[in-house]
Amino acid sequence: MAARTITNQPNRKKQSSKRGTLTTRNNERFEKLVYSILPGLTKCLDSKGSEPFNPKAVLDLSIYNMLATICFGKQFEFDGPEINFYVKVRQDSREPVGNGLAADYFPFLRHFPTPAVKKLRQLMGQYFDAVNKELEEHRASYDGGEPKDLIDVIFQVRKELEDEGKEDMTMITDTHIRQTILDIFSGGTETSIFTLHWCIGLLVQHPDVQAKVAAELDKVVGRDRLPCLNDRDNLPYTVATLYEVLRYGSVAPVASPHATTTDVQIGGYTIPKGTWVLFNTYSMHYDEELWDEPHKFKPEHFLDEAGKVRLHPEGFLPFSAGRRVCLGESMAKAQLFLIFSWLFQHFKFAKAPGMEQEDYSEGKALSFMNVVKENDVVVEKRF
Ligand code: HEM
Repeated sequence: MAARTITNQPNRKKQSSKRGTLTTRNNERFEKLVYSILPGLTKCLDSKGSEPFNPKAVLDLSIYNMLATICFGKQFEFDGPEINFYVKVRQDSREPVGNGLAADYFPFLRHFPTPAVKKLRQLMGQYFDAVNKELEEHRASYDGGEPKDLIDVIFQVRKELEDEGKEDMTMITDTHIRQTILDIFSGGTETSIFTLHWCIGLLVQHPDVQAKVAAELDKVVGRDRLPCLNDRDNLPYTVATLYEVLRYGSVAPVASPHATTTDVQIGGYTIPKGTWVLFNTYSMHYDEELWDEPHKFKPEHFLDEAGKVRLHPEGFLPFSAGRRVCLGESMAKAQLFLIFSWLFQHFKFAKAPGMEQEDYSEGKALSFMNVVKENDVVVEKRF
C-alpha cells in the first residue's frame, strides 16, 4: 500500500522536541474532552448495581467515545449504535487476523483473496463508509474557523499549505485523512482499553494497592472535584501504580514489526537489509537485572527513595522508542491518568461473588497483544 497513513510510512520524520508536550491551554482542552465521557460512564457503572459485569465492555465504550469526539467532534450516545458500530468492526476484524495473516509471512499471498482477507476487506469497507459520511458532513460545515476536531485540523493544515502554495497537495487527500483516522482508531483504542482493563484486573487482585491509590486521591484531590493533569505531581503513588500497570501488563509486548532498511551490525550480529525486526519490550519489562522481583506487581518499582516517581527508569519502554515511537504517547499518558484516577476516586472494584479464587492478574496473548483475562467484577460507589 502507498504511504498514505502514519503506520505505513516507511520512515517517519524525526519528531520535533515539542511533540508530546501538552501546553496548559491544551491540557485544559484535553481534560474537557476526557471529562465529556464521564456522565455516560457514570450512568453505565451506576446501572450495574451489585450485579457482576465485564469491565472490558465498559472500557470499550469509554475509549471509543473519546476517540470519536477527538476525530469527529461529536458526542455520540455513550452506548448508542454509532459507537457500538466502531467497537464491533474492530472486534470482528480480530477474528480473521488471529495471530497474523498468511500474507504477513508470505507476501506473495496478498495477491490471493483468502477468506480472511475477504472478510477484512468487507469490514474495512464498512468502516470507510462510516468515515466518508463524517468527512462529507465536515466538508459541508467547515468554515475555516477554530477547528473543533481532528478532521477540521487536517482541513485547516491543507488550506494553509494551499494558501502558501508550498506543498504538493497530493500529500493530504481524503484517502490520507481516512487512513489517518484509521491509524488513530487502531493505535489509540485497544492499547488504552487493554491497559485500563489491566488497571482494573490488577487493582482487584491487589486490594491493598487499590486502597492506597484511593486514599491518596482522597487526600490530594478530595471528593468535590475531578482529578486534573496538574495533580500528577502530587500523586506519586497513583502515578507509580499506573506506570507499574504499563510495565506489568505490557500490552504491546513486541511493539510493531519493522524491517531494516540497510545491512546492520549490532551486538556482533549482522542483520541483512529487509529483515523483520521486533522490539521485545516484554523481556525488558521483566528483566531480572533491571527490576527487583519483576514478576510481582509493585508500584514501588516506580518510586525512588524520596517517594518521587521514577519517570524514565532503564528498561521501561511501553511506547517503544526511536523514530517510530508511539505517536500518541503523551496523549495516552494523560488520558490514562485522568480515567484511572477518576475511576478509583469514585469507585471500588472487587472480584465477583464466587470468583474469589480466580487470579484477576493473569494475562493471555491476543494476536500481538498481551491482555488480562476477562473476569467479571462488582463495583461499589465510594461516595
Ligand atoms: C496505553 C496506551 C498505548 C500504548 C501502550 C501504545 C504503544 C504503542 C507502541 C508500542 C507502538 C509501536 C511503536 C513502534 O513501532 O516501535 C505504537 C504506535 C502507535 N501508536 Fe500507540 N500506544 C498507546 C496509545 C496510543 C494512543 C492513545 C494513540 C493515538 C490516539 C496512539 C497512536 C499510535 C500510532 C498512530 C502509532 C503508529 C506510529 C508509527 O507507525 O509511526 N497510541 N503505540
